[in-house]
Amino acid sequence: MKLISDPKKFTAMAAKAKQLKKSIGFVPTMGALHAGHFSLVKRARRENDIVIVSIFVNPTQFGPGEDLKKYPRCLKKDADSCRKLGVDFIFLPDKDNMYPKGYSTFVNVEVLSGLLCGLRRPGHFRGVATVVAKLLNIVQPDTLYLGQKDAQQAVIISRMVKDLNFPVKVKVMPIVRQKDGLALSSRNAYLNEKERSSALVLSKALRLAEAMVSCGQRNAGRIISRMRQLIENNKQAKIDYIAIVDQEELREVKKIKPGSLIALAVTIGKNRLIDNTVIDYN
Ligand code: PAJ
Repeated sequence: MKLISDPKKFTAMAAKAKQLKKSIGFVPTMGALHAGHFSLVKRARRENDIVIVSIFVNPTQFGPGEDLKKYPRCLKKDADSCRKLGVDFIFLPDKDNMYPKGYSTFVNVEVLSGLLCGLRRPGHFRGVATVVAKLLNIVQPDTLYLGQKDAQQAVIISRMVKDLNFPVKVKVMPIVRQKDGLALSSRNAYLNEKERSSALVLSKALRLAEAMVSCGQRNAGRIISRMRQLIENNKQAKIDYIAIVDQEELREVKKIKPGSLIALAVTIGKNRLIDNTVIDYN
């Protein structure tokens, strides 16, 4: 496994792999890797000749007052995990070679970026789309692996790939959870014991919604209000949003259909957590 920081060197390496007709699978991350990331890497490993993971805590997707400075960084541990999983290259740029002096180009996926998490985090998805566009140009993968954990991010990146004709296939992998239901996230490291236990309200609310749907409830408003009640019973939890939307345009739906996305963001203590489920029934 090789670690490369220089984008130019990386692109040259990718071009060589292309010449040799090797398929490239790419997993972009911000590090502090956990089983959620590993699921993407394992899938990429199964499906490609070359697996590339990028680790870059991208400053343009953090708003003022967000956790850019304290975002967990543990490169050595991450590199060990990647090595064990058979990753071929880690792309490890720094802020100055991704955004050198005078940098002025940004990608904004309109409308979608302003909904759901975008309302509370203006500029976040512009930063995500910009860095992923840059990474796709540098890495030139055949397949891009993303997690359903960040459902809106996956929708926005898929839209960008289509709109800007990036020659890459996007695969979105299921959410990896801990045994008790908590969706894995690098930010879970911020939770103390009490917050960790309160954080279970997110997945519990989603399970409640799924149970209501499987009992025949299709009214989105009713489902949201039961989820809201459940979460509000927890004094540490503050709801940012609960939404039931279609997966293509992220527009609110009144009536649940197979494929509807139930997404929520809840602040526990100082930590804003997100989770979601896609409704599936016949
Ligand atoms: P990061 O939060 O490190 O996540 C990297 C990838 O891992 C994302 O596609 C995310 O959806 C996926 N992931 C995280 N937790 C997961 C879980 N519990 N189950 C399944 N997949 C999970 O998302 C980012 O980084 C950044 O925004 C990035 C795309 C790298 C751009 O900077």
